Amino acid sequence: DYEGESIKRAPVVTVMGHVDHGKTSLLDYIRTTRVAAGESGGITQHIGAYHVETPHGMISFLDTPGHAAFTAMRARGAKATDIVILVCAADDGVMPQTEEAIQHAKAAGVPMVVAITKIDKDGADIDRVKNELVAKEVVPEEWGGNIQFIGVSAKTGEGIEALLEAVLLESEVLELMAVPSSPGKGVVVESRLDRGRGSVATLLVQNGTLRKGDIVLAGLQMGRVRALLDENGKPISEAGPSIPVEILGLDGTPEAGEEFIVVADERKAREVANFRQGKYREVRFARQHS
Ligand code: GTP
Ligand code: NA
Ligand code: MG
Repeated sequence: DYEGESIKRAPVVTVMGHVDHGKTSLLDYIRTTRVAAGESGGITQHIGAYHVETPHGMISFLDTPGHAAFTAMRARGAKATDIVILVCAADDGVMPQTEEAIQHAKAAGVPMVVAITKIDKDGADIDRVKNELVAKEVVPEEWGGNIQFIGVSAKTGEGIEALLEAVLLESEVLELMAVPSSPGKGVVVESRLDRGRGSVATLLVQNGTLRKGDIVLAGLQMGRVRALLDENGKPISEAGPSIPVEILGLDGTPEAGEEFIVVADERKAREVANFRQGKYREVRFARQHS
């Protein structure tokens, strides 16, 4: 493995929970209050991942369509998430997808922080939600368990600072480290073909540093990084550990959950990509004809 100075890296967080329990509202609240305001001139665009600065440190969020992407990543063996925020609405309690999310997080061995959402609502009953989660073996610290429970409202903002602090505390325990001086590597969050710009891939750098001009091998695709863009669409020259970034320059669209690595030799990268594409076509052909 690459030798170099190891430093603490920011946690990568995925928000999961039942339909309409407030995942997007929570992320939107955090994003609009925390993502470097003004930088982008107010342009909001969809991006599958972003990072926020808090007074206590940086946090990266994977704003995936929830379970589908998480499952796809897990199926590929990619562990892109360090911490799951399990969202459960104070006025609704544990629902089927809450249970699924608990199973996903447990199966992946990812620690959870529980956000009891919508605490501003009339029907909010935090103790009921706690009891329902305890029945699923998700036990709050104050009741002798090891999971932090934070009540939040995406409407008033109550509890959101505390939630971010809880995430960072969990992250301290995990002692997440990375070597920024090593070649960039990580995981594909999503990708698409854009008219005019070609392949646009959102990558999460997990270790090392990804730079403009690097040769990247990502699943079946490769290419030279023509541009790196932050979550506001602003060009940047490099992205270090735990930083999500959009890149232009791949010759295709890699799948969510596939790994990417920076390679030194463009010719070798092309060979590997061609080989993988050939294998992929063989497997697909065999499936279609069996
Ligand atoms: P899906 O992505 O469809 O699964 O939903 P979600 O979990 O992202 O929930 P979303 O953020 O879309 O919120 C669902 C509804 O709950 C919306 O009408 C929100 O306005 C409302 N909501 C979310 N958070 C809060 C909150 O803290 N307080 C109140 N009063 N309403 C909330
Ligand atoms: Na919704
Ligand atoms: Mg949503």
